[in-house]
Formats: sequence, structure tokens, C-alpha cells
Amino acid sequence: MRLTFIGHATWLLEGYKNVLIDPFITSNPQAQAAGITVESLLDKVDLVVITHGHFDHIENALDFGKRGIPVVGVFEVAEYLRINGATNTVGCNIGGWFEVGGVKMVYTPAVHSSSLIKENGETIYLGNPAGVVVELDGVRVYHTGDTALFGDMALIGELYKPDVMLLPIGSLFTMGIPEAVKAVELVKPKVAIPMHYNTWPPIEANPEVFAQAVAECCSETQVIIVNPGESVEITA
Ligand code: NI
Ligand code: MN
Repeated sequence: MRLTFIGHATWLLEGYKNVLIDPFITSNPQAQAAGITVESLLDKVDLVVITHGHFDHIENALDFGKRGIPVVGVFEVAEYLRINGATNTVGCNIGGWFEVGGVKMVYTPAVHSSSLIKENGETIYLGNPAGVVVELDGVRVYHTGDTALFGDMALIGELYKPDVMLLPIGSLFTMGIPEAVKAVELVKPKVAIPMHYNTWPPIEANPEVFAQAVAECCSETQVIIVNPGESVEITA
């Protein structure tokens, strides 16, 4: 399975099916710097998976959804996208495993918020924020979504045994580095990859500091720093 970092919290998982998580491309400075466009992804993506309704996670969902590409999200997010033109949405919630287009996934808790705030002040409630574990080609990827650290991450590790954990380290909106290191300690993935940092100045972080701290606490986990536009191959 090939994992490509589009930048910020946006990932392309390529395997038996191609899954795009949290499509934020047009206004994503890291995607722009890497030269990645929505157009370059439209013919490639079989399935879009969304963790929560914030702009930096759903900006381009309708570009895929209006073409009939299935879009999976927490019920309120899925309904919002359906009402706005996505033709094949799957609304779900945090709970248990399900399958869409042959791809198994389970939504997990995240400690965060989920809404869209319009310029006119209207706020659209978009359900609870989530993380998601996606299984592709026998590899389990846990995208934590935007989240703070919480103790039940240990349960997610115990129950779903993710091979790869994609987790934020940028602080301000999410975990910072000390919290993310503890999250790795709780989940015990084989590989941890930092995200949601250095997109804008308020979420600057040094991934080498994260990698060093994980090396000291968690010998079973390898940190891979993937730069926007880069890919890594993960085998089960
Ligand atoms: Ni968010
Ligand atoms: Mn975010």
C-alpha cells in the first residue's frame, strides 16, 4: 500500500482501491507547494473519507462527490455534502467496522469540534469529530483526525492494532509534540507519521523533535517523516 502526503491532514492511500482522506487541496499551502491539484486526483480516487467538517478537511469533498465518487463521513457531514450536491454519500458514526466499495473502516472518537462557519456568521453544526481506521491491502491506517490526547487511544490501539498512525503535532488546534508522543505510546503503531503542522505559522513544529522523543519512549514504533508530495510504501 502506497501512502502519499498531500499536505496538512490530507492523505492518499493507494492499494486495491485508492482512498483520499480529508480532501483539502485548493487552499492547502503544502499541496500547492508540492504542485498537487484536485484535477490530478479526480481520476485516481475511488473513495473519499472525511474525519470532520472543518474547512481544512472538507474543502474539496464536493469536487469528488459531485462526480459520484463515494464520500464517507459522520452523518451530519455526509448529509451536508449530499444536500450540496454529492451524489453518493455514506453517513456513519463513531462505533464499529463497516465496508464501502470493498474498503473496511471504523470511525473512532476524537476530542475536537466539527462545524462550518460562514462569512455571514451562520454556523452549521456537523456532528462529532472523529478519527478513522482504514484497512487497505491488509494494512491498517489510523488517521486520528484533529484531536487532543485522550486515554481511550489505548483502546483503539488494543482493538484495531493499526500498522500506521497519522497524527497531528502542530498544537493550537490539536495535540502538540508532547501529547502526540504520549498518543504513540498509547496506540503502539508500527509506524507513526506526523501531520497537521507547518501548514501556517501558528502550527509550526519540528518533526525531528517528535521523532527523537518517540525513539526514546517507544522502541516498537518507527517514525517516518513524510514531506508534502512524498510517498511511502507500507507492507502488512
Ligand atoms: Ni479541525
Ligand atoms: Mn484541521
